Amino acid sequence: MDHRYQSGFGNEFATEALRGALPAQRNSPQKVAYGLYAEQLSGTAFTAPRSHNRRSWLYRIRPAAMHGNFTPMEAGRIVARFDDLAPPPNQLRWSPLPMPTEPTDFIDGWVTMAGTGSAQAQTGCAIHLYAANADMVERFFYSADGELLVVPQQGRLRIATELGVIDLAPQEIAVIPRGIRFQVSLPDGAARGYLCENFGALLRLPDLGPIGSNGLANPRDFLTPVARYEDREGDFTLVAKFCGRLWRATLGHSPLDVVAWHGNYAPYKYDLRHFNTIGSISYDHPDPSIFLVLQSPSDTPGVDTLDFVIFPPRWLVAEHSFRPPWFHRNVASEFMGLIHGAYDAKAEGFVPGGASLHNCMSGHGPDAATFDKASAADTSVPDKVSDTMAFMFETRHVICPTAQAMASPQLQGNYQACWAGIQKHFRADRP
Ligand SMILES: [Fe+2]
Repeated sequence: MDHRYQSGFGNEFATEALRGALPAQRNSPQKVAYGLYAEQLSGTAFTAPRSHNRRSWLYRIRPAAMHGNFTPMEAGRIVARFDDLAPPPNQLRWSPLPMPTEPTDFIDGWVTMAGTGSAQAQTGCAIHLYAANADMVERFFYSADGELLVVPQQGRLRIATELGVIDLAPQEIAVIPRGIRFQVSLPDGAARGYLCENFGALLRLPDLGPIGSNGLANPRDFLTPVARYEDREGDFTLVAKFCGRLWRATLGHSPLDVVAWHGNYAPYKYDLRHFNTIGSISYDHPDPSIFLVLQSPSDTPGVDTLDFVIFPPRWLVAEHSFRPPWFHRNVASEFMGLIHGAYDAKAEGFVPGGASLHNCMSGHGPDAATFDKASAADTSVPDKVSDTMAFMFETRHVICPTAQAMASPQLQGNYQACWAGIQKHFRADRP
């Protein structure tokens, strides 16, 4: 176990960077050593059921209230609203976002591709890509709009948060809860990936039903950083994302000054390669819900505001079957990305860093080349899908692409052509 992290999902963690900084008496969280201030950070309603209640106590050098007035700032390519464009029912696909040529830090590098719902109403999500080539210098960020799911595709990220440091590489994900302040640096000099801001209920691990007590993403593989602080004064900027727009305030000290904390509202990371993939070992192709990593439930049982789903390396052993993802239409809407390798339902055009959007009831599935190859495959022998890692942000809501995504040179105008070559095999005289 890496000593920089604590293992578990939603556990009641306790960590201190200075011995004795955590209050000794558990029932006196306000009496703090070292002259620290106590501050509670609540991620759920105070009265949320105990099983869902998330909050942490932070013991810090200065309270979070200390900063200058927030003033509006240019939001660059971050979009706040998702109703300015009539979403087309077309299947959509984009090539990867180019890397910036000007110095661009993690926040400047966001490009909003699509979204649904609103941060104000605390339902739905925003989907962004990021491409950056510079560290965040003397500025810090938080989003009040949602918890931030970070999916790196290229280049590592060092995410220094109030509650500790997460080192993140492609094929890992991180979740930074709503409100937590952080700063991102780029150990590889450049980085690109996908972001989903979840406006709804906090992401959680799904119930496993008949799968049992183990499987899919196991809690022990989720890592939360230990406390780490800096006692640094200077001319800093705090950038807040609030109701879809960016605000800026001056700050005379680093906000990463939490010396100790305890609680269950904290950032975490997860290595997607630890996912315990479940699948058919007889025939047929189960629904992709078997690939669910994290879910944000809605108020309708079984219907999620947001699902984070992956398509990892796996054995295909189902006999007498068509093994790749099938043709289908879905009441949910699906935004996909590719982190690594190739995706088994597409022969070409969907490349690492690219994206696709299949909205509510838009037909999709394998392209013609994949259908022909898989239909001719010998399913009496196992086949390994290796060298791949695709993912999906799936929601019950229609995902509206932004005007800039629809005008982007990366939008592939010929995506539908991947199904154009599908042959008619029907012969009424040949059962
Ligand atoms: Fe689909």
